[in-house]
Amino acid sequence: MLSNSRGPETIRRIGQQIGCEVGTVDDVAAFGKMIAAAIHLQMPPAIPAAPLAGKIVLNPQNYFPHFGPVPALESGELTTAEVLAKRLPGSKVAKALNSILVEDVVPDARPTGAKDRRALPMAGDDADAKASVATFLDQIGYDSVDAGGLAETGSCLRNDWPRPPATASCQTATGDSIAASEPDQSAPFGGIGGSYGVGLPRM
Ligand SMILES: NC(=O)c1ccc[n+]([C@@H]2O[C@H](COP(=O)([O-])OP(=O)(O)OC[C@H]3O[C@@H](n4cnc5c(N)ncnc54)[C@H](OP(=O)(O)O)[C@@H]3O)[C@@H](O)[C@H]2O)c1
Repeated sequence: MLSNSRGPETIRRIGQQIGCEVGTVDDVAAFGKMIAAAIHLQMPPAIPAAPLAGKIVLNPQNYFPHFGPVPALESGELTTAEVLAKRLPGSKVAKALNSILVEDVVPDARPTGAKDRRALPMAGDDADAKASVATFLDQIGYDSVDAGGLAETGSCLRNDWPRPPATASCQTATGDSIAASEPDQSAPFGGIGGSYGVGLPRM
């Protein structure tokens, strides 16, 4: 399910084009187990904490100060993922999808085991949530590399991911080079529950 700030009617046509339901932010929060908060960090009221309690919330957010400074990021006190996690204390926040451009997600996807499959870094403080995120990334065509906890996602203000492990390259990786970080196929995953504008053109 897809949502935005202007209401479901404004994205109904996109939803039909991609075979995706549309709804309000609360509808999306209630819809599934995993939600991508693909909005700019400077829009905290957009993230409803209560309905997201217990759910996995993906944090693809990078920090763009021109939308407004976030002091905890400017000082290096927190990472973007930790900023989101503080706003959603009942959710399992996982950093993912911040290292790939929206326009690359579909064309760069490859089947499991493909030699030119990309490996995307992801991080989180909840092991089960990370396993689910790895399974999700595998399902959409990507290997994943566990880059640690939310505090380890870096302090680079512009991309928030300055020092990934050697295998956590955001570039094309060979299947062999990331063999040690194959996703856990046994992890449960019920499909992405919603997205706040992720991967879609604006109408
Ligand atoms: N674009 C990329 O390739 C890419 C890649 C990786 C990570 N990211 C990260 O994703 C985040 C968003 O970037 P973007 O380029 O996708 O921004 P964008 O093009 O401005 O899209 C933001 C989306 O969020 C929605 N939104 C804004 N306020 C909302 C609210 N209050 N409630 C619900 N939805 C709301 C917008 O819907 P309305 O138009 O209706 O307001 C829009 O669909 C950033 O942190 C960025 O770092 C982006």
